[in-house]
Amino acid sequence: MAVDQRTRKSRLGNPTGGLSGPAIKPITLRLVWESSKAVQIPVVGLGGIETAADVLDYILMGATAVQVGTASFSDPRASERLADDVRMAFFDANLFAINELRGNFLPEIG
Ligand SMILES: Cc1cc2nc3c(=O)[nH]c(=O)nc-3n(C[C@H](O)[C@H](O)[C@H](O)COP(=O)(O)O)c2cc1C
Repeated sequence: MAVDQRTRKSRLGNPTGGLSGPAIKPITLRLVWESSKAVQIPVVGLGGIETAADVLDYILMGATAVQVGTASFSDPRASERLADDVRMAFFDANLFAINELRGNFLPEIG
């Protein structure tokens, strides 16, 4: 929610709204991790994806694909840019296939 103290009215029409973007990534990353362990179907990761590192985080947690929402509002070509950046990130990490990363998260600290 968001309120205008001067008018005492909601800044949102409903008057509530959904939360998206980087603020939700720690939560959605956990949900993708838990979901991908629980089901035998592909899981799409999303929530706060802005960089190639975000994409790799979701793949590591078990995502087969990712979706970009909020970042597209500030940069309509975000998905296009990320496709290139992810390719470079894989190259930099000496990874050749998504299978080398997907679901290989190690839950130990460090
Ligand atoms: C303006 C806006 C509209 C959305 N509309 C829908 C929708 O109609 N159906 C849906 O399943 N999710 C909708 N979402 C949620 C997104 O699909 C996504 O789950 C969420 O925004 C998290 O990803 P993000 O942090 O990349 O935005 C919407 C999100 C935003 C910001």
